[in-house]
Amino acid sequence: MSNTELDALQPDPSTTAAEIYRNAGVDVVPVTDAIGAEIRGLDLRNEFTPAARAAVHRAWLEHCVILVRDQWLSDADLIRFSRGFGDLDHGPPMARAADQDTHPEIFIVSNVLEDGQPIGFLDDRPLPWHTDMSYTEVPPKASTLHALEVPEDGSGSTGFINMYKVLDSLPAALRNRIASLRLKHDPAHALQGEVRHGFDAVTYEHIESAPGPVHPLVRTHPETRRRALYLGRHWNGDKRATFVLGMSRAQSDSLLDELWQFVAEERYAWYHEWRVGDYVMWDNRCVMHRRGPFNSAMRRVMHRTQIKDSVRPM
Ligand SMILES: [Fe+2]
Repeated sequence: MSNTELDALQPDPSTTAAEIYRNAGVDVVPVTDAIGAEIRGLDLRNEFTPAARAAVHRAWLEHCVILVRDQWLSDADLIRFSRGFGDLDHGPPMARAADQDTHPEIFIVSNVLEDGQPIGFLDDRPLPWHTDMSYTEVPPKASTLHALEVPEDGSGSTGFINMYKVLDSLPAALRNRIASLRLKHDPAHALQGEVRHGFDAVTYEHIESAPGPVHPLVRTHPETRRRALYLGRHWNGDKRATFVLGMSRAQSDSLLDELWQFVAEERYAWYHEWRVGDYVMWDNRCVMHRRGPFNSAMRRVMHRTQIKDSVRPM
């Protein structure tokens, strides 16, 4: 679906969320006061009607993360539904199944080995709070996960945190101080510290000339017009992942550590404990996420899509 077609589907701003949900025949039930809502009454295998799309879109914008339970989706279903919100990125080669060339939009997230080879990526290590691909010029607006196999002991939850609320909770002096600052994001290292293909290890002694996109530290969501703290990631392995432009390294490190403390408090977070059949879509423009530890002896298999944005963070 093109952006023009998507604009044509934007709900009338005078229509209330309750009316939009009623038109689609769905119930939207918040899962916490801070973030997340479950949408009931949807089967994502069905044709995605304009009314259903408007309801999912509204719930997603209002609650930042949506959950739809008991969905039994083929990869084609998952791709078709995700495309209702924009063009899809292709998964990296290490996240694609050998026989999945017909569905390059699917990323497999799994710890499972077959014949000694991983069937997906992100193995079984815990992942710290981060925003997907904030180290690119135009990061994806949404990521989605469909749970196919989950550890039966309930481990391997995914945490989500509302970055509008984290920004709003900062002391006024700090909020004013960061209002127009910009961050450079390190694209050279992955979350676990590995040097990415095509990059040299960068020491970031000279921030201004190092590679990497520059994004505002406080961004304005292009659809809701609300402002959110946009940190990206804190560390890539043992290396700093972001730097404040126009500051010394010491000043930048100190300010970012201070801001990350507000994330570490997890006051506006929700940890989703997965059930098989869960479908979750989150908004990367106002949400960070993480993965808790899980029992590596248990299988965890998720299929994931990633929806492109059309505008840079601003
Ligand atoms: Fe992620």
